[in-house]
Amino acid sequence: MKVLVVGGGGREHAICWKLAQSPRVTELYCAPGNGGIAQVATCVPIAATDVEAMVRWAKEQAMDFVVVAPDDPLALGMVDALEAEGIRAFGPRKNAAIIEASKAFSKELMRKYHIPTAKYQTFTDEQAALAYIDREGAPIVVKADGLALGKGVTVAATAEEAKAAVRDMMEGGKFGASGRTVVIEECMTGPEVTVLAFADGKTVVPMLSSQDHKRAYDGNQGPNTGGMGAFCPSPNYTPEIAERCMREIFLPTMEAMRAEGRPFQGVLYFGLMLTPDGPKVVEYNARFGDPETQPLMMMLETDLMDIFEACVDGTLDRLTITWKPGAACCLVLASGGYPLSYQKGYPISGLDQVPEWATVFHAGTRLEDGVYTNQGGRVLGVTATGRDLADAVARAYEAARPIHWTDMHFRTDIGKVWVD
Ligand code: AMP
Ligand code: GLY
Repeated sequence: MKVLVVGGGGREHAICWKLAQSPRVTELYCAPGNGGIAQVATCVPIAATDVEAMVRWAKEQAMDFVVVAPDDPLALGMVDALEAEGIRAFGPRKNAAIIEASKAFSKELMRKYHIPTAKYQTFTDEQAALAYIDREGAPIVVKADGLALGKGVTVAATAEEAKAAVRDMMEGGKFGASGRTVVIEECMTGPEVTVLAFADGKTVVPMLSSQDHKRAYDGNQGPNTGGMGAFCPSPNYTPEIAERCMREIFLPTMEAMRAEGRPFQGVLYFGLMLTPDGPKVVEYNARFGDPETQPLMMMLETDLMDIFEACVDGTLDRLTITWKPGAACCLVLASGGYPLSYQKGYPISGLDQVPEWATVFHAGTRLEDGVYTNQGGRVLGVTATGRDLADAVARAYEAARPIHWTDMHFRTDIGKVWVD
């Protein structure tokens, strides 16, 4: 099969790395890809958001199957456009990708179908939003409605901070159109767990649980990032909690989307908080998480191509998906200064000294004259498996030791602060 993966970060590298192991994938392409992805796939210089060019290329080159990984092309309807040309595509259609693209939609869905989540109100009027904050008091959470790269959320300790966030979003245009509608919600407490699940419109099959580390610095301090490291499975996610999530959250969400005429095919990402009242949804994403996908792909035993096809064909209930025992950890190496401003173009050394039992997924690199340079905020995801979480964490750090470039930054406590 000729397969195209859309995207160009660490997540797409992990997906390509796993697909390249499938005997059924004979040709693998990635658009736009990156320096590291080029080791396992042929990179095609088309932007992930260029729906028209992507579909045209996939058709001209007779792709048998396309995997749409990032949120933007999903929200733009790339899967619909591929299907219209008769190309099989993994990922939700536009009308289902809205579960991530609009928080107002997802909150209303949860309210209508009694799926546990934080109490909330949606506002398009600034004065009404400010008055609501005065009424409810702090702590309180303010969110931009649309896609804001996971950075449109303020967990405010005081009413003043919450109001400043509302003003920023609604007047300041900080998030453009995404911020014109804001969602204000109750502040929940408890450890956070992520569960990614394969979905074929009817059946939902959770992967191993995982945990991201969103803050830039040790001890969960500093600004929010796209994710500084991740591991799986999460020690917080017991079989009892898993059973309860399936019954109260995963199945009801699949049913709700079907009932709304928006069957969900692809990966459904459940951001969960294990509150004193039980597990509740913090957010849905309509795609694989980054960097959660990196450790997950190293733990997955089943052929990923078989899973993707089962999702598209609606035959997930007939497939057994298995995982390796133990745990995996991905340590993100970032450019100094990320998520604010940072310098690009420094040569990266030591990649050839990384032990062969670890995998270095590239998020933002370029290969020029045989030398990799940093080209993004998150640059590399050094990923290792181990017999348990502590072992996987130790091995990821050990594997990263030879790697260096000017101003390289990473957290020293990935997998060590998993209890909030
Ligand atoms: P989101 O982009 O919705 O995942 O939010 C980013 C982060 O903000 C989450 O991972 C949580 O740590 C935090 N957060 C979001 N909503 C809430 C909430 N209602 N209560 C407490 N923390 C929240
Ligand atoms: N790791 C968070 C996300 O992919 O949204």
